[in-house]
Amino acid sequence: MNPMDDLRTPILPGTAASDYERYLRTDELLALQKPPEEMLHKDELTFQVVHQASELLLKGAAWELERALEHLEHADFTNCSRLVRRANMEIDYPVSLLHVLETITPYDYHLIRAGLGHGSGLDSPGFLALLHVGPRLGRAFDVQLQSAGVTVDEMYRHHQKHFGLHEVAESLLDFDERVQIFRFHHLKLAQRIIGGGVVGTMGTPVEVLHQRQEHVFYKELWDARNEITAKITEQWEREGRR
Ligand code: HEM
Repeated sequence: MNPMDDLRTPILPGTAASDYERYLRTDELLALQKPPEEMLHKDELTFQVVHQASELLLKGAAWELERALEHLEHADFTNCSRLVRRANMEIDYPVSLLHVLETITPYDYHLIRAGLGHGSGLDSPGFLALLHVGPRLGRAFDVQLQSAGVTVDEMYRHHQKHFGLHEVAESLLDFDERVQIFRFHHLKLAQRIIGGGVVGTMGTPVEVLHQRQEHVFYKELWDARNEITAKITEQWEREGRR
C-alpha cells in the first residue's frame, strides 16, 4: 500500500469525502445558494455569492475588533492594533466585491430584486456588528488616554513617546476610513444599478445612504488634524513665514 494513502483517508468527524471538505463544511456552504432552476436570472449566483462572502468577511472583521477591544481594555496596545489591522484587511474585500456587482445591468438586476422581499443591507449582521463595536473601541481608547494622562494633541505631538496609543489611534482611523469607503462605494453601486433618486427595498431613499457616508466613529481623532494645522499655521504667521 502507498504510505500516502493513509494521509488521504479523512479522520475528522463528518460524512464528506475529505478532511478539507469536513473541516470547512463545504457541502453545507456550497448548498447555500439557489440552484439554477430557482434563479430569477443567471446573475443571481454572483449576487448571492458576493453578499454571502461579504457577510463572512464582515463577521471575521467584527470578531477581530471585539478581540482588539479586549486587548485595549487591558492596555495591550500592540495586540489591539495588530488585530484592528487584520480586521481592516478583512473589510477591504467586501469593498472590492461591491465592484463585482457593478457588472450587473439595471434591467437584469430588477429580475433579481423582485425576489428579495423586504431584504435590505440595513439588516446586514456583519455591518451592524461593525457599527456596534466601533463606538465601544472609541470609548475604551478615551479611557486609556485618560489613564495615561495624555490628550489627543499630546499623543500626536509626542507620538514616539506614546507609540502604543498612537498605533491604536491610527489603526482605528484606518477602520473608520474603511467603513466610510465601504459606504461610498456602496452608494455608487446603488446609484449605478437602481439610481440615486429612488427608494430601497426597505423604504430607505438612496439619498439617505449619501448622508450616512458622512458618519465617523472617531471625530476627535479627525478633528485633531484641523486643530494641529490651525495651530501650526498660526505659528508660521507669528514667525512671519506666511
Ligand atoms: C446590487 C447591489 C446593491 C444594491 C442596489 C443595494 C442597495 C441598497 C439600498 C437602496 C440600501 C438602503 C436601504 C434599503 O434597502 O431601503 C442599502 C443599504 C445597505 N446595503 Fe446595499 N445594495 C447592494 C449591495 C450590497 C452589498 C453587496 C452589501 C454588502 C454587505 C450591501 C450592504 C448594505 C448595507 C450595510 C446597507 C446599510 C448602509 C448603511 O448603514 O450606510 N449592499 N443597499
